Amino acid sequence: MARIIAVASGKGGVGKTTVVANLSAALARFNRSVIAVDANLTASNLGMHLGIPLYPKTLQDVLNRKASVRDVVYYHEDGFRVIPADVSLSKVMIPRADRLLESLYRISEGADFVLIDCAAGIGSEALEAVRAADEILVVTNPEMPALMDALKVARSAEMYETRSAGVVLNRVNGGPHEVPESEVEGFLEQHIIGRIPESRHVKASIAARRPAVSAYPRSPAAESFMKLAAELIGEEYRPSGMLSRIFGWFG
Ligand SMILES: Nc1ncnc2c1ncn2[C@@H]1O[C@H](COP(=O)(O)OP(=O)(O)O)[C@@H](O)[C@H]1O
Ligand SMILES: [Mg+2]
Repeated sequence: MARIIAVASGKGGVGKTTVVANLSAALARFNRSVIAVDANLTASNLGMHLGIPLYPKTLQDVLNRKASVRDVVYYHEDGFRVIPADVSLSKVMIPRADRLLESLYRISEGADFVLIDCAAGIGSEALEAVRAADEILVVTNPEMPALMDALKVARSAEMYETRSAGVVLNRVNGGPHEVPESEVEGFLEQHIIGRIPESRHVKASIAARRPAVSAYPRSPAAESFMKLAAELIGEEYRPSGMLSRIFGWFG
């Protein structure tokens, strides 16, 4: 059975799509079969993060029962599958949890993970996806406004009995105005499963339309995504140390 995980946040722009793209690539590196689904149907951009060309058929067509799941699956070069959403205004829709669930069950066949890129906030677009998922991964930045909103989405997930997979702190830079990790955990009453640094490699990889995990595999950001993937599957990840990097250069 696949683990169906909603990657959600209260505040927008905190890094959900970045996490979905990179966590998919990282889990694929651990030989897990992953399907990333763009369920942000009012502002879909997972396809853009991953360099996927505009697709004739998308998740919207599956939800409207105008296409089957296999018509809309895109095979990404980094070893995972993607179900993109249509980006045009005419295809904007709010998926209902029951339709989404029905589609997700078909999508998840034979996969280890289904990662759902959700809309931000606690409106019905986001919550229908949270409700349809088994687990929720809350993405937030270590700042109070983002944390306030993260708390709302975490509480909403409890209401739907969607299990918490933990919190991903994104854009951590260790600055003096950041909320410390222990306070984040206390405030959200959830454990932090991953920490992703503020990273120019992440920015460059988004511009290059590839996950940082494959575009800059030795970067601290890529290693933090590998660590997050390892935490999720309960495996150990050994980041390549300085020595192996040096040998790597000569090898
Ligand atoms: N770890 C990071 N380091 C630097 N910039 C980041 C990082 N994560 C996200 N960003 C920036 O934030 C923007 C929004 O990220 P995105 O994943 O699209 O957020 P969301 O899906 O939550 O709206 C990205 O386009 C990128 O510029
Ligand atoms: Mg997004």
